[in-house]
Amino acid sequence: MNNRHDDTWRASRRGFLASAAGLTATGTAAVIGSAAAETVEPGELKREFGRQTEPFWGVHQSGILTPQQTHTYFAAFDLITVKRGDVADLLQAWTLAAARMAAGQTALPAEGPFKPAVVPKAGDVADEVPDVAAMAADSGEAMGLRAARLTVTFGFGAGLFVKDGVDRYGLAARRPEALIDLPKFVGDQLVETHTGGDLSVQACADDPQVAFHAVRQLAHLAEGIAHIRWAQSGFLPNAGTGGTPRNLMGFKDGTHNPPVNDPGAMAKYIWAGREGPDWMQGGSYAVFRRIRIALEHWDRVSVAFQEQTMGRAKFSGAPLGRKSEFDVLDLASVDKDGNPVLPENSHVRLATAASNEGAEILRRAYSYNDGVSFTAERWPPWRQGLEYDAGLFFGCYQRDPRTGFVKIFDKMARFDMLNQFVTHVGGGLFACPRGAVPGEFVGQRLFAPA
Ligand code: HEM
Repeated sequence: MNNRHDDTWRASRRGFLASAAGLTATGTAAVIGSAAAETVEPGELKREFGRQTEPFWGVHQSGILTPQQTHTYFAAFDLITVKRGDVADLLQAWTLAAARMAAGQTALPAEGPFKPAVVPKAGDVADEVPDVAAMAADSGEAMGLRAARLTVTFGFGAGLFVKDGVDRYGLAARRPEALIDLPKFVGDQLVETHTGGDLSVQACADDPQVAFHAVRQLAHLAEGIAHIRWAQSGFLPNAGTGGTPRNLMGFKDGTHNPPVNDPGAMAKYIWAGREGPDWMQGGSYAVFRRIRIALEHWDRVSVAFQEQTMGRAKFSGAPLGRKSEFDVLDLASVDKDGNPVLPENSHVRLATAASNEGAEILRRAYSYNDGVSFTAERWPPWRQGLEYDAGLFFGCYQRDPRTGFVKIFDKMARFDMLNQFVTHVGGGLFACPRGAVPGEFVGQRLFAPA
């Protein structure tokens, strides 16, 4: 395509990438610092958007401890460039664009902040003619929408360091030990088109269009450098209203998590420390799993069986044998026949820290619903046919996946009663570097000369 609109966008993007990138180390900091000051000055944000914005800059990336927004749009990218400099340029451009969008602005700077939504009165006539340059800076579908607490969290897959045995960007020696190749777990049916990726971007927002818009702009900026390998949207009911949201199985999901307001617990379980490279210190490892749930099968079993499977009461969310949702699990009690009140193979019993030598992860899961597709169940009655392609887009953060997800899930994959109803069909592991402060870009220290 070669019309004016496209040319304008290309010029904006070229300028943006150049201003974000084509500078010496000190120059880069100055430009990014000034752009940051211009776009995301904290006091200004508060005045303009109140609680609608989540801070982008900081030692930790946002979107990890951030109270969960109602929607997510996740995308894993494959890098197609052969140049290391392109990857750094892209991360610089992504950092600036993400900071701008988190502040409720267009991805590129041609236009000022999006105007907060205005409900037109009957008889109003639009008196503003959109400017081509402004429209070219952004696809525009978030115009008129608030920032909706948008967070954008970036991650690096193993392919950034080594792909098919090739060290494409001279980064192989910098691959953190904790960025392992995840083992194949019992029951895994990972589909290649929903698995892996060299880079990950997770946008979360209280508006699905704001989340999608953010990833769409970043994908657009990546043209010629990286392309989307797979993507997943997700949703939550009532997040932010106080109650624990229910997943598609009808159970409250997210009751137990390590305490995000306790910096000691976060340092212990979530933030990477001195054991790894400096660019990961203050970062975290994200494991995503696209878990399809056989909802038709689940709907055919009794609530009592569902509760035994999960280990919690469906309505209240209380652990079996306890009264209230937030009561601690009762791992000791047995019934009159000597069987544990909380079944041995129930989901929460197998998952809880006490069953896993103290291992904890921070779960941040969303439901997904992608229509219907053909499936064959692996359990009686071995139904075949069109079934919901719906389930849980499981996501969790941890200091080290070997002592987090892998430690906990290895046993669950073999024994969890929930496995009768769920199949892991995709996912990935990504090293989410420490956050950026104004003057830096996310992942900058990884690309610093040795
Ligand atoms: C479709 C798949 C899954 C569903 C529907 C599901 C659902 C649930 C529910 C309803 C709870 C109880 C409420 C809560 O504490 O949040 C729970 C707890 C938990 N789940 Fe899952 N989950 C799934 C997959 C996983 C996976 C793959 C892991 C991997 C490690 C996991 C780890 C945990 C942990 C650690 C807990 C907290 C246990 C505790 O009370 O200490 N879940 N899950």
